[in-house]
Amino acid sequence: VQVYVPGDSAARSVGADLMAERLAAVAAAAGRPVQVVRTGSRGMLWLEPLIEVETSAGRVGYGPVAPEDVDGLVAAGLLDGAAHELGVGLVEELPWMRRQQRLTFARVGIVDPRSADDHLAHGGTAGLRAALELSPADVVEQVVESGLRGRGGAGFPTGVKWRTVLGAQADQKFVCCNADEGDSGTFADRMLMEGDPFILIEGMTIAAHAVGATEGYIYIRSEYPDAVATMTAAIETARERRWLGERILGSELTFELHVRVGAGAYICGEETSMLESLEGKRGTVRPKPPIPALAGLFGKPTVVNNVLSLASVPTILTGGAAAYAALGTGRSRGTSVFQLGGNVRRGGIVETAFGITLGELVESFGDGTASGRPVKAVQVGGPLGAYLPADRFDLPMDYEAFAEAGAMLGHGGVVVFDDTADMTAMARFAMEFCAEESCGKCTPCRVGAVRGVETIDRIRRGEDRAANFELLEDLCELMTDGSLCAMGGLTPMPVRSALRHFAKDFGVEAAG
Ligand code: NAI
Ligand code: SF4
Repeated sequence: VQVYVPGDSAARSVGADLMAERLAAVAAAAGRPVQVVRTGSRGMLWLEPLIEVETSAGRVGYGPVAPEDVDGLVAAGLLDGAAHELGVGLVEELPWMRRQQRLTFARVGIVDPRSADDHLAHGGTAGLRAALELSPADVVEQVVESGLRGRGGAGFPTGVKWRTVLGAQADQKFVCCNADEGDSGTFADRMLMEGDPFILIEGMTIAAHAVGATEGYIYIRSEYPDAVATMTAAIETARERRWLGERILGSELTFELHVRVGAGAYICGEETSMLESLEGKRGTVRPKPPIPALAGLFGKPTVVNNVLSLASVPTILTGGAAAYAALGTGRSRGTSVFQLGGNVRRGGIVETAFGITLGELVESFGDGTASGRPVKAVQVGGPLGAYLPADRFDLPMDYEAFAEAGAMLGHGGVVVFDDTADMTAMARFAMEFCAEESCGKCTPCRVGAVRGVETIDRIRRGEDRAANFELLEDLCELMTDGSLCAMGGLTPMPVRSALRHFAKDFGVEAAG
């Protein structure tokens, strides 16, 4: 009997390793030895650790399973997919799964991330093979036509970025994958790398073919040791299979790929800081221009893309740009991987076409707050994203709709707060986070954030409120307009949104 237990860090953090060991031992003792395949997580985090058992009807799930549940489960017929109070039925049929459109995450939770054969058995390398049939310029145009925009947060059209790199003349070009994923409340990059590392390798190799790059780096934060191990092993396997290295899949393409581990600074997720760090220097922001597409790693033209942007590309090449572009809304095409977290009953990964509303995500997928209290605020797009009240649940998940509402989609993190949240504390946290993580290169951010914390503290203590509100607004304006990068430039977004939507917490009728 084949059984599946996620082996990614989300499942391991809630005891999946011990449970999997126990399962193998109990099944063997019962005379029914099992092969436990460690997959990535399906992204239904409230069910972890989840066991899936292969049956003739499909995979039947049980979760969350503690080691002490295993004996009873096996005795009750788990290995035959029998009913049990921890049973959830056919995993693919769960409403949470059925209502998603998993393209980038299609294989995550299903395949063994260490197995190249499993990758092939589930359609792996089809995207790369399709790309190698096309000229670099045609691959670039496919990506342009798909409408794919940077999933790291800024939403810049990926194909247009690649076109710039393709057009640049240089003796060497690079592809760099930004896997620093520093935003609180985001974990999709990690879950993809731990659940389907080969799709990222494939996406990067397609990018290398498209722009004429020979070398690539995946920059992973040190807080992700499991992702580092999974990616490193997958690169080794890909080399053995000739999916990397010289004459990839028998073509003329040569592409070498390396993993580099960051030391744990939020600012190293900013692309130019990441490049500095990759060059072995301290991670501080470079002024733009020049853009990395023209002068990036070691001064050479460089594609810098987020994990999810690159991992979306193989699907575009296999399914066709038009099919990808047919999904979504407005200028936000295709699917996006949203991450539900914070005070939410059902947190995890939701991949759907753009255009789903914020309310559907929080209420329908998330099933409301974990505390059972009313939702007060949702922060979308990481610690630099806006706080939105429940009366903005009608907002579609769409780059432009969010920008119009004074918010941003960012990397797709959705963090829920109930009515006990003090929004003055959340506004303070934004400034404090910026003060802590500022690279120090420019004054509006380095000094502004510290003054911001002090000013919000005075407002919270009720000191000279009119003057301090004015000062805070002044600071926000200065940081927005005068900062060198998005760290200082976006910190005012959560502060202003807290003031605008939750003025009562600040003791005023309306402000901001
Ligand atoms: P940006 O708008 O300056 O640039 C976006 C991308 O487009 C960059 O790669 C840039 O080099 C490229 N680009 C711009 N013009 C181009 C052109 N003409 N040709 C080719 N490429 C061009 O935004 P930035 O500063 O890179 O990113 C800011 C965003 O990062 C924020 O909106 C935020 O959502 C996100 N962010 C994400 C985090 C995460 O953990 N994923 C953490 C913090 C922020
Ligand atoms: Fe550094 Fe902040 Fe200036 Fe960005 S805004 S360059 S993080 S000091």
